[in-house]
Amino acid sequence: MRPTQVTERRNDPTSSPLDERQWGDGELVITIDGPAGAGKSTVARGLAARLGFAFLDTGAMYRSVTLGCLRQGVSWDDASAIGRVAGRVEIRFEGDRVLLDGEDVSAAIRSTEVTDHIRWVADNAEVRALLGGLQRRAAVGMRIVTEGRDQGSEVFPDAACKIFLTASPETRARRRHAELAARGQAATYAEVLSAQIRRDQEDASRPVGALRPADDAVIVSTDGLSEEQVIERLVQIVAARALATDPNAE
Ligand code: C5P
Repeated sequence: MRPTQVTERRNDPTSSPLDERQWGDGELVITIDGPAGAGKSTVARGLAARLGFAFLDTGAMYRSVTLGCLRQGVSWDDASAIGRVAGRVEIRFEGDRVLLDGEDVSAAIRSTEVTDHIRWVADNAEVRALLGGLQRRAAVGMRIVTEGRDQGSEVFPDAACKIFLTASPETRARRRHAELAARGQAATYAEVLSAQIRRDQEDASRPVGALRPADDAVIVSTDGLSEEQVIERLVQIVAARALATDPNAE
């Protein structure tokens, strides 16, 4: 697999609340993990934009490999074939677009078919090792917000700041239901909730890369908060962490 390029978000670095003296101007990784529907994606993107950092959507990488497997008609019980697909495809990010072997698959990777088959890919130890390696390489020398399930716990154990974003199952299912409706995909709230419970169980019981907060993660519940309010909270957490590790602080 070729190196993954990440989306650069250098919107307005002058407004970044991070003082370069605090964390220097070298590599700096902020991880955001959490269950489906906690609002990670929008919030992680928003935080990256606020800080002027790059952004890495690792769920899109698992989704892209799943799409690659579907297209190549790989048998889901053939773990090595799934691993081989992961080793062959090229995943690139361009702005908010995801490219699989040069083709824009941003919409295709969000289909129900991909979501329904992703666990075969996410449970595969070879795929996890490959994608984890790519994620680390993508972060080399970068100031980056990376979002997923295992970023703080497995992929970046030394990240400067780790956030675990969560919300009640009902809030998460309500958000997901609204999201699907906005995209014209028909599903009842009850269907969304039961699919989410199944995904939560799969994510938490995965033999490798299971969803869990890193020991040093800050846990943030998004219940009752708007996206803007969550981003604001995260900016404060990141700034407080920066101050706490500031070698120049008194
Ligand atoms: O974040 P998103 O819902 O797009 O992720 C899709 C799926 O990919 C998740 O349900 C999870 O199973 C898997 N995933 C993972 N590790 C990551 C990111 C996503 O296993 N770091």
